[in-house]
Amino acid sequence: DPNTIYALLLGYLLGSIPFGLILTQMAGLGDVRKIGSGNIGATNVLRTGNRKLAAMVLLGDALKGTLAVLAARWLFGVEASLVAGFAAFLGHLYPVWLKFKGGKGVATYLGVLLAAAPLFVLVFAAVWLGMAKLFRYSSLAALAAAVAVPAALWLARLDAVAALFTALSLITILKHHSNIARLMAGTESRIGSKAKDGA
Ligand code: G3P
Repeated sequence: DPNTIYALLLGYLLGSIPFGLILTQMAGLGDVRKIGSGNIGATNVLRTGNRKLAAMVLLGDALKGTLAVLAARWLFGVEASLVAGFAAFLGHLYPVWLKFKGGKGVATYLGVLLAAAPLFVLVFAAVWLGMAKLFRYSSLAALAAAVAVPAALWLARLDAVAALFTALSLITILKHHSNIARLMAGTESRIGSKAKDGA
């Protein structure tokens, strides 16, 4: 089906825009891949100490996923929109522009969720914020949200969306392997500690 191919391409192209890299560079803070965890996401941009910039990266990386799903839904229909969401997420993780070395996908996950099942953003937000408040690890909060969201979607019997987010969760959890190792070693950096404090 050509619509599926178009949805894949549209999603991938939007998803592969590395807002963390671009906005950090534009702010004169250099290459975000050379600081903290080396990741291009909002959590690592926050380690520059610039909160506004981190918020903009979160917004950009999320909304590109939202836009991919909404545009594909409008252009190609509901089924293709889930394909576009999946492709946007993969585009963020494996951008051709960065030799396929992208981010971990948490913001884009959230953005795709906002378009695909908006109510479940509340599940994500409640779990992420609760875990972040309790433990102050962005990675741990994201891992918990990645477990809770598909569970809630399956419980609600939204099978197609639940299947998509089960896949996205598995991939993002695998992408957090070095965070998981740091969490277990007790060396993961907490939210609010800057790169020079040690990431
Ligand atoms: O959202 C990404 C976060 O879970 C981990 O980022 O920079 O600590 O590896 P980072």
